[in-house]
Amino acid sequence: MLPHATLSFTFLSTLAATALGHGMVTSFKTDGTQHQGFILDYYYAKVNKQKVPDIAAWYAENLDSGFVAPNAYQTSDINCHKNASPGTLTASVAAGGTVQFNWPATWPHPYGPILTYVAKCSGNCTQADKNSLRWVKIQEAGINLSTQKWASQDLIDNKGVWTVKVPKSLATGNYVFRHEIIALHGAGSLNGAQNYPQCFNIQITGSGTANPTGVLGTQLYKNTDPGIYLNPYTTLKSYTIPGPALFSG
Ligand SMILES: *[C@@H]1O[C@H](CO)[C@@H](O)[C@H](O)[C@H]1NC(C)=O
Ligand SMILES: *[C@@H]1O[C@H](CO)[C@@H](O)[C@H](O)[C@H]1NC(C)=O
Repeated sequence: MLPHATLSFTFLSTLAATALGHGMVTSFKTDGTQHQGFILDYYYAKVNKQKVPDIAAWYAENLDSGFVAPNAYQTSDINCHKNASPGTLTASVAAGGTVQFNWPATWPHPYGPILTYVAKCSGNCTQADKNSLRWVKIQEAGINLSTQKWASQDLIDNKGVWTVKVPKSLATGNYVFRHEIIALHGAGSLNGAQNYPQCFNIQITGSGTANPTGVLGTQLYKNTDPGIYLNPYTTLKSYTIPGPALFSG
């Protein structure tokens, strides 16, 4: 009885995970400390009026195949995914330290860049208003033009693990980290790209003082950006990574 029940449950869970999407960072690490990511179970817990665990990852309702389309770039959903709201906890990382984002090991889209932004909160990020967060890009990876290998393929080769170094000069304080894959397999059509943004409350410690100016989420991208609307099924001679300039620290 029990093994059978367990098997069915696993089977159904696998089906659900496949059908409901792959677009989530299921866990993350700050300077090696593991934290829970937001998973769909928490959405259903909320709908069923059950307790949602306290986590530093943001809540979001990416229930379908889990992306924000370019025709929603000028809506608040581009910040931290659909109907997002702040996590209730805050993780911590040292300036100069690392944040590791764990996507599903079987990320299915090998075409597209991977980007990471931070936005400083005016107070506690657990109270952040996503519409006033100003994003500073701290990491970007597009395509290696000599091998034609995308950052997304590197992610797949690395079994879903993506590690970002936090610029050492960034001012201490409370930040929302916004980590994002832009899948380009459908980007030959206008509005065919797929953005998978994920947000996390992370306090940066250390002695940095740099407060670079960021941009509002609705100003990050346009659906006609050359790095968003392009045919990926050709040998690319150049690629313009979407979004504002990189803050290298
Ligand atoms: C942020 O707010 C939460 C409750 O929402 C509280 O538990 C936490 O201590 C606060 N953190 C800081 C750094 O003020
Ligand atoms: C592109 O890939 C080649 C082969 O792996 C590597 O030697 C080269 O450094 C890469 N170029 C960039 C810009 O990363």
